[in-house]
Amino acid sequence: MKNITAFLDLPKTTHILDLPCGKGRHSVFLNSLGYKVTGGDLAENSIQLAKNFENDTLKFKVHDMRKPFNNKYDAVFNLFTSFGYFDNDEEDIQILQNIKNGLNTEGYFVFDFLNAEKVKLNLVAEETKIVDNITFHIKREITNGFILKHISFFADGNNHSYTEKVKYLDLEKMTSFFTKVGFKVCDVFGDYHLNNFSARRSDRLILVAK
Ligand SMILES: C[S@@+](CC[C@H](N)C(=O)[O-])C[C@H]1O[C@@H](n2cnc3c(N)ncnc32)[C@H](O)[C@@H]1O
Repeated sequence: MKNITAFLDLPKTTHILDLPCGKGRHSVFLNSLGYKVTGGDLAENSIQLAKNFENDTLKFKVHDMRKPFNNKYDAVFNLFTSFGYFDNDEEDIQILQNIKNGLNTEGYFVFDFLNAEKVKLNLVAEETKIVDNITFHIKREITNGFILKHISFFADGNNHSYTEKVKYLDLEKMTSFFTKVGFKVCDVFGDYHLNNFSARRSDRLILVAK
């Protein structure tokens, strides 16, 4: 994310909200660049771990992004496919509205998501991977507007299985969500080097909005 802060030419006085921040890896990095950073995440255990990194200009708090913020920020970063969890589009749009309302005038929103179109074009329906002597069976599908990854494996004497689920959100749909809440898309990038977005080739869909 160094590239994006340099591209946006954010002054060091910028207060960035990293939402959701998980265990705080991007917040810590952004803070190391000299920015004041607040990280928010719904997962209490992640925030508990992230709090170990706190300092005068780096704070973490439990926050559900469906709820409005108490503070205003100069920039909000939503990184590493941390959106599109909800069946109902209105909840996703509410999150964007909260972010918009939580930004100072001229504030930036940076949205970093998987490139759904490339995922669809290259979908590997089934594969097996061995990591640390554990065999993972992976099945992928796109159903009812969601990209689903089913993972199952046997470890510690037990069978485990879980599903990762994220909404199929392409550039067109995200642009329509952004427009609904009054965000104007300024830039569209296709990777962390900030190359132009290509629906067929890019790994990421990165939007910068104001
Ligand atoms: C894919 S992780 C990425 C976290 C972080 N951006 C990173 O790159 O490490 C997505 C995060 O979204 C959080 N999350 C899910 N629903 C949320 C919600 N309603 N409000 C806030 N955080 C949420 C999860 O707890 C998880 O930490």
